[in-house]
Amino acid sequence: MTPRLPGSHDARDLIVPQLSGAIEGTGDNVWIEVIQKMDEVYTDLVDSQTALEEQNARLEEAQDFIGSVLGAMTDVLVACDTDGRIQQVNPALEAIVGKRERTLIGRPIAELFQEKSQAVVTGFLQTLRSGEGIEQRDVSLAASDSQNALISTICTARRDHRGRLVGMVLVGRPVGELKRAYRDLDAAQAKLTRTQQQLFVSEKMAALGRLVAGVAHELNNPISFVFGNMYALKRYGSAITRYLTASDENKSPEEMKELRKDLKIDQVLRDIGPLVDGTLEGAERVRDIVQELRRFSSNQQEQPEEFNAVRLIHTAADWVIKAQRVKPEVLLDLPDTLEMTGRKGQLHQILVNLVQNAADVLDGRPDGQILLSGARQGEDIVIKVADNGTGISDAHRDKIFEPFFTTKPIGTGTGLGLYISYNMAAKQGGSLSVENRPAGGAEFILRIPADVRTES
Ligand SMILES: Nc1ncnc2c1ncn2[C@@H]1O[C@H](COP(=O)(O)OP(=O)(O)OP(=O)(O)O)[C@@H](O)[C@H]1O
Ligand SMILES: [Mg+2]
Repeated sequence: MTPRLPGSHDARDLIVPQLSGAIEGTGDNVWIEVIQKMDEVYTDLVDSQTALEEQNARLEEAQDFIGSVLGAMTDVLVACDTDGRIQQVNPALEAIVGKRERTLIGRPIAELFQEKSQAVVTGFLQTLRSGEGIEQRDVSLAASDSQNALISTICTARRDHRGRLVGMVLVGRPVGELKRAYRDLDAAQAKLTRTQQQLFVSEKMAALGRLVAGVAHELNNPISFVFGNMYALKRYGSAITRYLTASDENKSPEEMKELRKDLKIDQVLRDIGPLVDGTLEGAERVRDIVQELRRFSSNQQEQPEEFNAVRLIHTAADWVIKAQRVKPEVLLDLPDTLEMTGRKGQLHQILVNLVQNAADVLDGRPDGQILLSGARQGEDIVIKVADNGTGISDAHRDKIFEPFFTTKPIGTGTGLGLYISYNMAAKQGGSLSVENRPAGGAEFILRIPADVRTES
């Protein structure tokens, strides 16, 4: 059956009775043909209407889709014609300016913006008309939501199917929030830097405090030693003076003998030598401590010179070992000579520090061993100082090269040995690292360019 248009009659109901009355005597065949033709036309009409309805539905769907996309956008969107009259805006823009789309359509686009930005926006249109591209710009909307007024915009030309300019689309991202977040971040970072500097200063003060405490303790011993000796010498001096004065007064040998006994002159003469030696030793210790301090603060540049590193390793080890109460065994794995050009004084100091640390960890042990090896590896001289001590625990591994890190009691270590050695090695283009030996104990590996003049 032919489908009916809604509310319509069958074509034959309308036409046939009228025509049959109007054209008398026409044959039945003709009527049948006419009716068939009309049926065809009618069917086409119905088909067209169905297609139209389908297209309408698709259009509505497309519109819904575009509407939902525009609604979902957090960026603002404005479309206008070539005269700058608003044609469409999205809900994000409506929310910021506080106006509905229907009140905006047909209004000049510039009205959406604060006065200072209006010229920029109208300028966009002119630029598009002249066929140039538009850079991203920051402009301010005349917003009821002032926090989001500032937007970073991009404008593009809108063209019809023949490519003619028909308007402009402006898309903008609210950046106020972002800028504020950046400002907050900046402020937070500045605060952090200040706090860090304060921390650094207080850390430095604490470090200085530790150093002073350590140094004061170290100085205290030899100085009280020197003081005590000097008082004794003073007493001895007056005893000797009294004795010599008496000898000038023509006293009898018996009286002189008595006086010599009373003034303990023989004991004084016996003691003077060791007292002077002890005082000298104390003074030397003070001198050494001051030199140690200097090594911490000194930045004087030493000039490179040619020398044999093997000799240097020997002297560094001798210096340290001689001062040890219980001497560890020193095993050497060295070639006859290792010629190099470098800062001899600094290298010597690094070696003394490393050997001293090894000797310290082995202190008092009868089976202590220090192994010193050296070889040329390519452009470098590699010197290893190993011991059979405790090794370095994982917890300390990252800290031992830090200034003032020490596990030694106050007065015995400042915690600067490795810190200074590490920096000296690095300054010469070399490196200082540490490993624990599989058999136990630590191994410090010093790598120094064989010729520092080729460095930097
Ligand atoms: N060979 C080693 N074996 C085990 N631990 C070591 C060894 N060498 C260094 N350490 C550890 O590293 C710490 C830091 O050494 P560093 O030479 O910097 O300072 P220090 O020896 O304590 O004092 P200073 O050298 O200033 O007199 C030591 O206190 C010790 O704990
Ligand atoms: Mg040390």
